[in-house]
Amino acid sequence: MSGIRFYSGKDIPLELHKVRIVQKLDLVPVERRREAMLEAGCNTFLLKNKDIFLDMLTDSGVNAMSDRQLASMMVADDSYAGSSTFTRLTDKLYEIFGTEYFLPAHQGRAAENIIAMTFVRPGSIIPMNYHFTTTKAHITRLGGSVAELVVDEGTKIVSDYPFKGNFDLEKLERLLDEKSDRIPFIRIEAGTNLIGGQPLSLENIEMTADIAHSHGILTVLDASLLQDNLYFIKEREDCAKDLSLREITKRISDKMDIIYFSGRKLGFARGGGIAMHDKALYMRMRELVPMFEGFLTYGGMSVREMEAMTVGLDETMDMSVISQGPLFIKYMTDELARKGVPVVTPPGGLGCHLDASCFLPHVRQEEYPAGALAAALYVAGGVRGMERGTISEQREEDGSEHLAAVELLRLAMPRRVFTLSQVEYAIDRIVWLYEHRDLVGGLRFVEEPESLRFFFGRLEPVTPWLDDIVKAFRRDFGDSL
Ligand code: F0G
Repeated sequence: MSGIRFYSGKDIPLELHKVRIVQKLDLVPVERRREAMLEAGCNTFLLKNKDIFLDMLTDSGVNAMSDRQLASMMVADDSYAGSSTFTRLTDKLYEIFGTEYFLPAHQGRAAENIIAMTFVRPGSIIPMNYHFTTTKAHITRLGGSVAELVVDEGTKIVSDYPFKGNFDLEKLERLLDEKSDRIPFIRIEAGTNLIGGQPLSLENIEMTADIAHSHGILTVLDASLLQDNLYFIKEREDCAKDLSLREITKRISDKMDIIYFSGRKLGFARGGGIAMHDKALYMRMRELVPMFEGFLTYGGMSVREMEAMTVGLDETMDMSVISQGPLFIKYMTDELARKGVPVVTPPGGLGCHLDASCFLPHVRQEEYPAGALAAALYVAGGVRGMERGTISEQREEDGSEHLAAVELLRLAMPRRVFTLSQVEYAIDRIVWLYEHRDLVGGLRFVEEPESLRFFFGRLEPVTPWLDDIVKAFRRDFGDSL
């Protein structure tokens, strides 16, 4: 996808694939969008797909599959135990990661559950560059806590630091010196999710692992977003210029004791699992798979998805495949930045991230600017994003609000799903909304679940500001959708 120049000089990401199956989309009128948002309790997770035009909620399980992936699904071997499909998957994992053992799970968080149940005890501390929602929920559920050790640059919105997901190695050393007896493993999220899809460098991953190992502590890689991270290592890191994607992957996996992933992201299918080099670690976790997931050769996944994942993992080692997401995200981020819209820079993986605190400086963090921006953008354009700010945090034990380090609206870029004109449309509506940002107000909870409240909590606008957006839209766009 990269390296093709236009005679006109325009910097446009060119697709190196063609579209052969399509799904019709509808764009419902702005009045219906307002109504749908109120029905959904101002939570984009609760919208119905029929009301959505561009679904940028997530890249999870919604990436386009290749012809090779679809073809592989036809030859899946459907047997409860001993399926050849499972053997093909474990062979591919061995080829790419060099891991001899694999425990399948129905998706990434199931792998997190198994790892947490095996290693986390009350009082455990799990250092990581940055947490992910489900990861933290599993650790805290078992009485552990998370120590976030991302470099200071990681939570700066505007930056030109190429690896904002890096560990702060000094902080890591200090924590391990002081508390290693309470640390069963460190978790490396490559790339990161909640801070804007920002990557870690190969050098930082290797040094982090060496520090952990010198203290006798296990290393666990969350490889759910590895495809984007590999792209950035190859593009941005001098020492990786002459390495192939396979060589970079191997260098990373050689330093890891455990590698787990969401197959809804890595491998462009659905499912997940835990790969490791060491039999003893495998034996410690093995029993939990048939107990919670399914038998050891499917772990809750459909055999068709396992076949698609096997091919998807192979395609992940192809730069022209994995570059599509980051290049589209870069296009969107650069265009928005050029038009003055506050975005996370440099562009990362996963999606384009709007800085809601700067977009809506008049909305207090206690009234959830990122959630409000998600609701406003849906009404303005039928574009569904995901709140990644304070609503995505858990309250403190004393019930007080845990204000997020960054208030982001994530506009995910499912891989090979959207065309550039659809991305242009999203940019257009975001710019319109930015020019009408004064109209957007805050939100308050009307129904607040205790954990993972962002999934199904319900909120309402603190004033009827959604009505003002509809009025402004009609004034500016006439009878257009
Ligand atoms: N780790 C990371 C870094 C993730 O991004 C996700 C999921 C998981 C673990 C959990 O995997 O969904 O298969 O259970 N991220 C999705 C998202 C939900 O939308 O960002 P899962």
